[in-house]
Amino acid sequence: MTNPALEAVTQLRRLALAAGHAAALRAAAQLGVADALGDEGATAAELARSVNADPDALERLLRALASQGVFAAREDGGYAHTHVSRLLRTDTPRSLRDMVLWATEPWTWSVWPGLGEAVRNGKGGFAEKHGKDFFTFLYEDAPESAEVFNRAMTQASRLSSAAIADALALKGDQTVVDVAGGHGDLLTKILEGDPTVRGALFDLPGALPDCDARLRPGGEFADRVQLVAGDCRESVGVEGDVFILKNVLEWDDASTVAALRNVAAATRPGGRVVVIENLVDGSPETGFTTAMDLLLLLNVDGRKHLRESLLGLMAEAGLTVTDVRPVGPYLHLIDSRADASA
Ligand SMILES: C[S@@+](CC[C@H](N)C(=O)[O-])C[C@H]1O[C@@H](n2cnc3c(N)ncnc32)[C@H](O)[C@@H]1O
Repeated sequence: MTNPALEAVTQLRRLALAAGHAAALRAAAQLGVADALGDEGATAAELARSVNADPDALERLLRALASQGVFAAREDGGYAHTHVSRLLRTDTPRSLRDMVLWATEPWTWSVWPGLGEAVRNGKGGFAEKHGKDFFTFLYEDAPESAEVFNRAMTQASRLSSAAIADALALKGDQTVVDVAGGHGDLLTKILEGDPTVRGALFDLPGALPDCDARLRPGGEFADRVQLVAGDCRESVGVEGDVFILKNVLEWDDASTVAALRNVAAATRPGGRVVVIENLVDGSPETGFTTAMDLLLLLNVDGRKHLRESLLGLMAEAGLTVTDVRPVGPYLHLIDSRADASA
């Protein structure tokens, strides 16, 4: 028999210490526990020897994670993998290890306590506190965190790039510009799909040097790709037929409209602007998306959009939306045309 009053206490107590589970995930990822655990399972003592940890402390870490379905405690006292813990391995194409490290980077622990103040003011105030905006801070002051960030974005992209490239079905003599395209996972998928499509990867200068090797000089796609460094809120210095902005329009609204206007201005007549986002009201991962929305408030004074808020900003930037449809497991693809009169 369930007892709602007791369940409420349990739920709130678990949520209040949810940071402990996030920290446990980070610790397991850093120690490489998932890589050390084979299909046959192992005891905490055996794992402690493999990852050079204290056996008792590691047992407690595993117990905490197993309580959340990350690893399974076996009746013989050992631990086995679950579908969730396997995602912490580095040798699986669906690995989310870097995503876990990114979501728990040291800077995140320093911004969360400011959430109450941010909710009161409607602004996270990262730039005021650090003297520079978040991405400048990331690439200039926290290069190791920037590396984790870019690897995490690539890991997340791998879950959806093939589905997006299929949905876009870009063929023939046209140039596709991936604006704030990170390390280019999506662009490489698009270029793989048709040898006549050309591409440009546009991102901040700090992001491009470590982009996918196939896009760099000498790489497989080098002869049909440009790497363009810049700030898309100031200008997008490359022309194209199709512009893609995936998981980018998450800043304050003024920056989002500025970026969209710059993209619209760089689009050739009849050109297409495709926005791909994890919408708050269209995501099957409400818990993740709403928490990310709060983190974006704190670090870039930004947000994860509701469908209507994003469509409103696209209209403000002079884009005519022609279609909105789900793509991949948790994203929406918003197709639009640059309005010549904008
Ligand atoms: C959340 S990531 C998304 C990356 C990629 N589009 C994807 O979906 O994997 C945001 C990207 O925006 C880039 N970025 C942030 N501010 C930018 C700006 N002002 N101009 C150009 N790129 C920017 C970051 O370097 C990063 O690559």
